[in-house]
Amino acid sequence: MTRASWRSRLGFILAAVGSAVGLGNVWRFPWLTAENGGGAFLLLYLLVIVLVGVPGLLGEFVIGRRSNRNPVGAFEQLGGRHWRALGGVALLASVVVLSFYSVVGGWILRYTAGSVTGAYFGAPQQYFAAIDYGFGAVAFHVLFLAITAGVVYAGVDRGIELATKVMVPAIVLLLGGLAAWAATLPGAGAAYGFYLTLDVAYLRANFLDVLAASAGQALFTLSVGAGVMLTYASYLGEDRSLAADGTIIATLNTGIGVLAGLVIFPVLFSLGVAPGSGGPGALFISLAGAFAELPYSRLVGTVFFGVVALAALSSSISIFEVLVAYLVDEHEATRSNATAVVAGLFLVTGSVAAMVPSLFTLLADTIANLALTAGLLGFLLFAGWVLGSKALAEYESGAGPLARLVSVPWLYAVAIVLPLFLAFSLLSGIAAVLGVTLGFELLAAAAVVGVAGCIAIIRGPTAVL
Ligand code: PFF
Repeated sequence: MTRASWRSRLGFILAAVGSAVGLGNVWRFPWLTAENGGGAFLLLYLLVIVLVGVPGLLGEFVIGRRSNRNPVGAFEQLGGRHWRALGGVALLASVVVLSFYSVVGGWILRYTAGSVTGAYFGAPQQYFAAIDYGFGAVAFHVLFLAITAGVVYAGVDRGIELATKVMVPAIVLLLGGLAAWAATLPGAGAAYGFYLTLDVAYLRANFLDVLAASAGQALFTLSVGAGVMLTYASYLGEDRSLAADGTIIATLNTGIGVLAGLVIFPVLFSLGVAPGSGGPGALFISLAGAFAELPYSRLVGTVFFGVVALAALSSSISIFEVLVAYLVDEHEATRSNATAVVAGLFLVTGSVAAMVPSLFTLLADTIANLALTAGLLGFLLFAGWVLGSKALAEYESGAGPLARLVSVPWLYAVAIVLPLFLAFSLLSGIAAVLGVTLGFELLAAAAVVGVAGCIAIIRGPTAVL
């Protein structure tokens, strides 16, 4: 059986952008920005995207294209059988993310329909409290999952590529239209001020917290750490510049995130709603409530939640595809059987998340970040210390002169600098879960020891000395 592949460069880029652009941009990014001081968060987030997100994304691309395999098969093929476990971490991260993501996807579908009928307009807070968990949430999660499975079942080129080629341009156009409309609202000036001005004092006082939040969000929004980008790159030929494609993908993703903020903050400010309030429910309570008060509320609400539904779907199909690719490559399943098995799995895990709020929050807030960080840390140590010069050759294959200029610094970043950064955030995340506060120095020392230990295990003690 010949392995699936993308039909065109644009198809790959749009599919990867579709994966990156999702609830992370429209739901998670605005509330994290609001919670972490507006412009202060935006600045660090942009820095982390450029310095960690993009090189990390390229690490996944290199492993995927070099092996032409799903995560488990990729690490086995490139490193030997004992590396399969690292692919297992990626599969696990995919399960964690889609289990809660599909529940939020269900909420979005429900709000799209609710905008047409005006269901939530009267009492947005009570409406959200009534639908967020329970059997209704399960039903909409199942609907969201069914659409996702349908696209994946249709195949890489005929399903995912075709769907994202329509979805991504639609998202940009509709969001652009909404941003233009939002600019006419009375609170727009104040909103841009909050969003785009940097509060240096705030940043100084809360640097570590803002850094941790922006690092987690940078990985989440670029879909790295769960093997999604690795799998998408495994359907690529050798003739493309991974660095150029990765830069385009990250730029479009960030642009769309910022654009979403240009819609959301003016709407909130126009009604005097404090953007920091509401947490994860902000989108559904404050924003939906704001729509209800504004002119053309049904139209605006439907377009907005429709856009978010498209964005969420183009991300969920990418996570679903990781597990399907694993079953097709490693267990010789047909695509239809693999799709059915994966759908069955998420039917269970997503339904449990939709019934048990504390589990949902644990997955969405904490475990997802930890799993993606651990996944990417493993991938990069592998690329840097197991592949080494082969990673460099893969990066350079198809690369233009500009991308080649930074190929060696990229490898050093992937082998040393990024693992230190990721180990630091992983440890501080774990410490936060355990409820212990470790100082910056202690965390940094533990990160150095941990990374050096990993390198010593991979390459022998002499590699570290
Ligand atoms: N990048 C997606 C978003 O921003 O909504 C979410 C996501 C997709 C996270 C795939 C992780 C992943 F592997």
